[in-house]
Amino acid sequence: MPKSIDAKNNRPQAADTLAFFQDLEPPANDFLQDAVNGLSATPKNMSPKYFYDQKGSQLFDAICDTQEYYVTRTEIDLLKSLIPTLNKLAGPNAAIVEYGSGASVKVRTLLEGLDHVSSYLAIDISRTHLINACRVLADDYPDIAIGAICADFTAPIVLPPMSREKGNVVGFLPGSTIGNFAPKEAGAFLARAAKMLGKDGSLLMGVDLKKDPAILNAAYNDKQGITAAFNLNLLTRMRGELGAKLDQNTFCHKAFYNDDQGRIEMHLQSETDQTVHLDGQEFTFSAGETIHTENSYKYGLEEFAALAETAGFRAKHSWTDPEGLFSLHWLEVHTE
Ligand code: TRP
Repeated sequence: MPKSIDAKNNRPQAADTLAFFQDLEPPANDFLQDAVNGLSATPKNMSPKYFYDQKGSQLFDAICDTQEYYVTRTEIDLLKSLIPTLNKLAGPNAAIVEYGSGASVKVRTLLEGLDHVSSYLAIDISRTHLINACRVLADDYPDIAIGAICADFTAPIVLPPMSREKGNVVGFLPGSTIGNFAPKEAGAFLARAAKMLGKDGSLLMGVDLKKDPAILNAAYNDKQGITAAFNLNLLTRMRGELGAKLDQNTFCHKAFYNDDQGRIEMHLQSETDQTVHLDGQEFTFSAGETIHTENSYKYGLEEFAALAETAGFRAKHSWTDPEGLFSLHWLEVHTE
């Protein structure tokens, strides 16, 4: 066990190796309250942020490696091909701030390719995963100040001084994470990000494109069943952490493209009529009823640029891979 693991609760202590660490981890109680509210609603739903415990974060990393999920490899190749351009846009000594950093794999392309990055701040809700990823980065890039904030990245966050010292502040939101918000919420998030990044700030975003639904449906229904396991892990968490009484085997993963809404929907579908017990309450399911666990909105290039403009950014540049599967956008905070 590394010395910085706190033996009592087995949680890594972060401050030792990182240039900055702030713990805004949401209280465990929120999960219970949100789960009760979600199961009480019609239709039933759960916030996707609860996917990302340690196990969920690992499953998510495995999804990124599946053949069907083109997003990760397409985005990394696109980022690599754009390094000279991004270098000009970011300028020297950039301070990178990543929202929902996960395993911090994609940002390596920037840390290595850009003309000296001065600092990297990772924001993620999955505390252990975050700290471990940042420790590895701190070892691999000793010249870059590596900091972390454990938080729901939609919460109000103030940039630490390390991000304000040298070059331009460059926000980074890859992986089409923005697609997990409804367009209105995405606009609200972008407006807050514009404030946080400040007047010379910019934001590099990965946004998945509208395309043949067969490609989209396959991407969220990989043959190995990793996406299914990721979705079902939410029920495992509800049993383990909230004491919910339910049988995971009576639920199945369901994901499909909803053309009208322009989004992939992910659900957990009850295969039988059943009652789930949680927090002293009973929640009844009829056979076929679902818990809506996530949306992943897809955008056209112009459509996304327009959304960013309404949120206080200038949509300066956008690029796609040769097959037109995925896009990157360079947004600049609009100040007058
Ligand atoms: N935000 C990405 C997307 O919607 C990644 C992602 C989030 C994802 N949850 C997922 C991918 C569940 C597959 C399954 O594509």
